[in-house]
Amino acid sequence: MTSPIRTERNGDILVIIADNPPVNALGAAVRQGLEAAVKQGVVDDSIAAMVIRCDGRTFFAGADITEFGKPPVEPMLPVLVDMIEASSKPVVAAIHGTALGGGCEVALGCHYRVATPSAKLGTPEVKLGLLPGAGGTQRLPRIAGVRVALEMTAKGDPISAKQAQEAGLIDRIVGEDSLADDAVAFAREVAGKRPVPRASQREVQPDADAVEAFKKENGRRFRGFDAPAANIACVEKAASGASFADGIAFERQEFMRLMTGTQSAAQRHIFFAERQAAKIDDLPADVTLRPIRQVGVIGAGTMGGGIAMNFLSAGIPVRIVEMQQEALDRGTGVMRRNYEASAAKGRMTADQVERAMGLLTPTLAFDDLADCDLIIEAVYENMDVKKDIFTRLDRLAKPGAILASNTSYLDIDEIAAVTGRPGDVVGMHFFSPANVMKLLEVVRGAKTAPDVLATVMALAKTIRKVAVVAGVTYGFIGNRMLIPRQVEATKLLLEGATPEQIDRVHVAFGMPMGPFQMADLAGVDIGWHRDPTRIESIRDALAAENRWGQKTKAGFYDYDDQRRPSNSPRVAAIIDDFRRQSGVTPRTISDEEIVARTLYTMVNEGALILAEGKAQRASDIDVVWIYGYGWPVYRGGPMFWAQTEGLDKVVDGLERHGFTVAPSLKHAAETGGRFK
Ligand code: 3HC
Repeated sequence: MTSPIRTERNGDILVIIADNPPVNALGAAVRQGLEAAVKQGVVDDSIAAMVIRCDGRTFFAGADITEFGKPPVEPMLPVLVDMIEASSKPVVAAIHGTALGGGCEVALGCHYRVATPSAKLGTPEVKLGLLPGAGGTQRLPRIAGVRVALEMTAKGDPISAKQAQEAGLIDRIVGEDSLADDAVAFAREVAGKRPVPRASQREVQPDADAVEAFKKENGRRFRGFDAPAANIACVEKAASGASFADGIAFERQEFMRLMTGTQSAAQRHIFFAERQAAKIDDLPADVTLRPIRQVGVIGAGTMGGGIAMNFLSAGIPVRIVEMQQEALDRGTGVMRRNYEASAAKGRMTADQVERAMGLLTPTLAFDDLADCDLIIEAVYENMDVKKDIFTRLDRLAKPGAILASNTSYLDIDEIAAVTGRPGDVVGMHFFSPANVMKLLEVVRGAKTAPDVLATVMALAKTIRKVAVVAGVTYGFIGNRMLIPRQVEATKLLLEGATPEQIDRVHVAFGMPMGPFQMADLAGVDIGWHRDPTRIESIRDALAAENRWGQKTKAGFYDYDDQRRPSNSPRVAAIIDDFRRQSGVTPRTISDEEIVARTLYTMVNEGALILAEGKAQRASDIDVVWIYGYGWPVYRGGPMFWAQTEGLDKVVDGLERHGFTVAPSLKHAAETGGRFK
């Protein structure tokens, strides 16, 4: 096998070049090649300095994550980085693309760093439940200071070349297209300089209070996660004046602790699951995508507006249609205000706001959709209304236009059947707020054409969504799994639990909110029959008293003017009344029972969805719940979590509470405890 590392000589400079597509991950062969090349540079008297650079789209994007959990192969990354730093001759990292994780650490081991203007540097290990384990937590504070090191390691967001230069992490920003030559020229400039600057030999600049202040600022953001605290502890160790060797020993210990823990396994699972979800198993490889240059959105309500914003932000023009001028004005007004709020937070410039809004054409004329390449219907959930719209679209849309529905429950095949072109029809289920939530469920109808599916999946990436393919089934993947959770939460309430208890269990689990907090946010009146005399559920009783949730300042909780919730004696009384009328004597409900009945039942439903082929793989279901519903990423999604709980425990819990266990779940529990 040829090595992914080659060397070239440029006078007295040895250029070491990596070529390990797609992202130059630092797998064993790369590490071995780098070690050999640097050794060659050190012993060769005709070499004065070295440059390390990468071919392809990026500098090393990190350790090879696929090697984690496998037997280690020498040289290990920390040893390699130390060895580069120990070189008696200057080594220059020439960075383009993204120098991430172990890639950033290789660069920090080099004595100098040059980068293109578009390059980025980062230590995103925390997002994999880890920390920079090749000396990054000790070299970063020594070069860039405690604050920058905390930001980079504990949050994991990359910084630009310019920011890196300001922080002292980049010595020179060179030409975008002349990195190779400029790096050699730089190496020549520094070749004779002694001593060779080594990060490990620098002192950390004292920065009193930086650690405490950082912890305080970010406590909420890190809730539930193990890795941020470990990153902070490592930087704190460096800041406390510990020697480099002691700091490294501590970093190693913490790295191994995280690496063998469940959270990192879950977060690494999601990293690959997200990328896997984009792949559709049975699509022909040579499918040609349909060009999407003009999008149409029907409905300028909350969903329609949010959906349109995704395309506008990506530079794709949108026509948005409403039936009344007032609704159209209201909808576009909300979109503008949302953009302006982003600008106020510094997330976009005023120019970008204008550019995005400039791509929007509001209209009352349905006919204006005629030349759109993709038309997304985002009106309310009513099959007759949707059928009527698709009948009209069929008459009006140009041939080859993709016709999508944003329905969150309804049958795409039934909608497609009213058209003469069911192959062009697909579901695009966005999650509210549609301009923010990353998930897109792409619903594949029985007749959806392969190129339609492939086009929508590619488009999802353009608008920065994580797309998951779902089959036609009531509620698709996400909402279908929500149903047993809602049903059980309501039953538990009747049997003796309180909304506070059920929500507390969910929040402690790591969900952003529990089922009743969610009901109050979404509206207790959703789906209500609107007859205050007909009380068939606790929800009906609440709705009848105008307790519609946050919008009426009363729902399952009471709300003050700042929308802060408090437990409601009135709700307790309503529930008591309802129990009495239903002849139910309340009993004490354990937290364990809440977990089994509201979370294990979701796993059971997920197993059914999988067995019916409505999801391609268990990991797709995990992606839906992480990106669409805020399932804590450190638990890896419901299906992964069930495996960490133990599938036999899940089966046992379900059976104990009287549920019928999905045969596929039972089978998985009996045969290795994993979903296929
Ligand atoms: N190891 C192994 N494979 C990796 C990888 C890595 N570090 N990074 C990316 N890949 C793979 C992806 O799985 C994907 O494979 P696929 O095509 O088979 O699905 C392929 O490379 C392309 O990746 P993306 O689709 O993500 O490509 P993008 O261009 O959108 O993004 C990227 C590129 C920004 C580099 C992004 O892949 C990324 O963020 N990668 C992870 C970076 C990271 O977390 N590095 C730290 C690793 S841990 C570490 O270094 C530990 C050390 O401190 C000891």
